[in-house]
Amino acid sequence: NNPVTLHKTIVLVGMMGAGKTAVGRTLAAQIGVDFLDSDHEIEEAANMSIAEIFERDGEPFFRQKETQVIERLLEGTPCILSTGGGAFLAERNREMITEKGVSIWLNADLEVLWERVRHKDTRPLLRTADPKATLAGIYEKRVPIYSLADLSVVSGGGASLDEMGRKVQRAL
Ligand code: S3P
Repeated sequence: NNPVTLHKTIVLVGMMGAGKTAVGRTLAAQIGVDFLDSDHEIEEAANMSIAEIFERDGEPFFRQKETQVIERLLEGTPCILSTGGGAFLAERNREMITEKGVSIWLNADLEVLWERVRHKDTRPLLRTADPKATLAGIYEKRVPIYSLADLSVVSGGGASLDEMGRKVQRAL
């Protein structure tokens, strides 16, 4: 395994349940660079979970924090950066990510996403009467925006995390 020097941060974007965190962590270990996760950084800074931040301070406040954290992380040493599913939607975030990094859309289909998120209660946006329909609505709205990413990699179809990490490497 040859050591890798990144010149730009690799930013994973895509829906909740696409595997951004798990694939990002695996990829970082494969190529021997640091892994960061914007949601995790937001939680650490606030000392609260994402769900608690949404509940106490609201989504607009969370989005502000998200932009600040992404800006800060993009200023550091190039690494693998996983973002929350909404991070690529704001134009300002997209501009920062595109300028300082290489964006990769982890694209999984709706059934795969639903299977991965349905048993968890960590996503405030899915705390609705019909979370599957909510997820479908979010997915439909966001696909055109995620497709603005520099690259896309299909996630799902039974690929292991190791295979997914290598798939991203091949896409780069
Ligand atoms: C969100 C996705 C979540 C988290 C927050 C909002 C979204 O991250 O940032 O709940 O808008 O899609 P994951 O994509 O890691 O679940």
